[in-house]
Amino acid sequence: MSWCPVAHIDSVMEGEATCVVAEGEPLALYRIGEAVYATHDICTHAHAHLSEGFVNGDCVECPLHEGVFHIPTGRPISGPVRVPLRVYPVKVEGDQVFVQLSGEDAEHG
Ligand code: FES
Repeated sequence: MSWCPVAHIDSVMEGEATCVVAEGEPLALYRIGEAVYATHDICTHAHAHLSEGFVNGDCVECPLHEGVFHIPTGRPISGPVRVPLRVYPVKVEGDQVFVQLSGEDAEHG
């Protein structure tokens, strides 16, 4: 399994989601305190970019129908969303954020 460099740490800001594309997959990066998280960027309900949504604490709200997901686990919290969001392992080395994309489901939680 390989780690894919996706962003400079300074481009991932608290309170917003940052869209990146890694190996053709649109991902959203989030910073919550010192931790960085990555989820798939497309809502599981319909086609909307969560990076255009609203981050509130450790949750992100979809801009289209206000579905809310828990960022660290991808768990659906409220709204019309039922299917968990895919989450990816993240590591930060120096100024660089890496995401692990694998064929396996990386969801934890
Ligand atoms: S597309 Fe995200 S809640 Fe409907």
